[in-house]
Amino acid sequence: IKSFFRKESFKGKKILITSGPTYEAIDPVRFIANHSTGKMGTALAEALYLLGAEVTLISGPTKVLPQFKEINILPVVSAEEMFNTCLEHFSTCDIAILAAAVADYTPIEKANQKIKKTEDEFDLKLKKTKDILKELGKQKQKQILVGFALETNNALTNAQIKLEEKQADFIVLNSMENTGAGFGYDTNNVIVLDKNGDKNESGLVSKEAAAYFIAGIIEKNI
Ligand code: CTP
Ligand code: CA
Repeated sequence: IKSFFRKESFKGKKILITSGPTYEAIDPVRFIANHSTGKMGTALAEALYLLGAEVTLISGPTKVLPQFKEINILPVVSAEEMFNTCLEHFSTCDIAILAAAVADYTPIEKANQKIKKTEDEFDLKLKKTKDILKELGKQKQKQILVGFALETNNALTNAQIKLEEKQADFIVLNSMENTGAGFGYDTNNVIVLDKNGDKNESGLVSKEAAAYFIAGIIEKNI
């Protein structure tokens, strides 16, 4: 029913969105993950679809998926799968928004059988995952590239560093310095930084409103 109100500001634009956590397997029954729910990525996918875009959502494991069947959902589990799926779709998209909370480290080895609790201490060796945003920054041609930054301290400085190092056009800063925003909450307070040093803050709003706020800033650049 909501599709009836679809707008045209992003008509003809192919948008890739990543969302949710990734799961990094330790053995067949255990994994490393984080508190991401996928609410922000799903809100972005729905908002941009309703603004006329052709949306592909590459989503880690989440219960919160978009309701519109026209949104192309590509489920992935691990950071590596998300990396590969993003690379397959990046060259043909116009805008990429990387809202996923990708695991930074993954077990070097995945045990084929359930690990038994025989030892009193247990070391798990991890290696860094590939940085999807950074790789897309390198491969970028005409695409608008939007990254997120989750920070608990020195938020603006760290977000600015991410903007430059990953060659993004925008970084959406999710600061956990304020309460009522971020993981698990239905609200968010985002600050969008751009390459020119401009900053735009949404204030504490619903994740749906934050999605429209982010879309509005991107729209000025298409
Ligand atoms: N990101 C990514 N691939 C990774 C890790 C992060 O694409 N392997 C993306 C996220 O989706 C987000 C941005 O990079 O758009 C910033 O993620 P964040 O976790 O805030 O920063 P990191 O660069 O991972 O650095 P750190 O966690 O140490 O702050
Ligand atoms: Ca990280």
